[in-house]
Amino acid sequence: MYNSIQDTLIIGKKVIYLPSCHSTNDIAAEIVHAGLFTEGTVVITDHQLSGRGQRGTSWFANPGQNLTFSIVLTPAFLPIQNQFLISQTVALGIKAYLEKYISGVQIKWPNDILVGGKKICGILIENAIQGSKLNTSIVGIGLNINQMNFENDLATSLFIETGGELSLGDEFAALMRCLDAAYLQLRGGNRFTEIRRAYMGSLYGYAQEVKFSYKDRVYTGTVTGVDELGQLSVRLSNGEELTDLGIKEISWIRS
Ligand code: BTN
Repeated sequence: MYNSIQDTLIIGKKVIYLPSCHSTNDIAAEIVHAGLFTEGTVVITDHQLSGRGQRGTSWFANPGQNLTFSIVLTPAFLPIQNQFLISQTVALGIKAYLEKYISGVQIKWPNDILVGGKKICGILIENAIQGSKLNTSIVGIGLNINQMNFENDLATSLFIETGGELSLGDEFAALMRCLDAAYLQLRGGNRFTEIRRAYMGSLYGYAQEVKFSYKDRVYTGTVTGVDELGQLSVRLSNGEELTDLGIKEISWIRS
């Protein structure tokens, strides 16, 4: 069902399909551990039994209706202080893919993908560092394609947004091409500023008032920046500035 992609340079040239598995990120980590991979290898499943999300959450997706996979990257060219560029690059690659179908795609810091304020895709990146370099980066992606119903109404899928069922195999190939193009830009090494700028321009809450909780209080504010380490800055509606925020420090409140 999922074929290796012939016309990409790195991502998706080797595809390992498992009808079901616990977590594709965990399988990818096992493959890395065993040294049995080339850069860009993808592990994909139709039925993930214990999908993992950010901040220790679980990721659920109806079997056979969505894209659930992990990519193994070896970004040794990136100093570890620049590792957030992987997140930014992957989010921009997914955004470019979605924009073939829909407009209004936003990235919710650090790397959720929203359409019309609803989450269509989650990304879990797990980096292994050796010395001052990134050894491997496992990029786990859960993208809602044909699922029609979700437990809460803060989630959506391409089916809901476009009104039509899509071929998972074809969409996987199209997504691989967008991710490969985005990753090649990063590997080129001279587009970091452009990548960061494109990310900022797509960010939920940038030049737009949003609600979030911080230290058990609810605030309204706008995002003012994301630094090289991926830490967020926001300006509260009272003019106060919060800087150097990490992923565990704030939670977005979408209604
Ligand atoms: C999040 O939004 O919290 C991140 C969700 C990431 C889910 C994907 S599905 C494929 C890969 N395998 C996992 O166990 N998690 C990621």
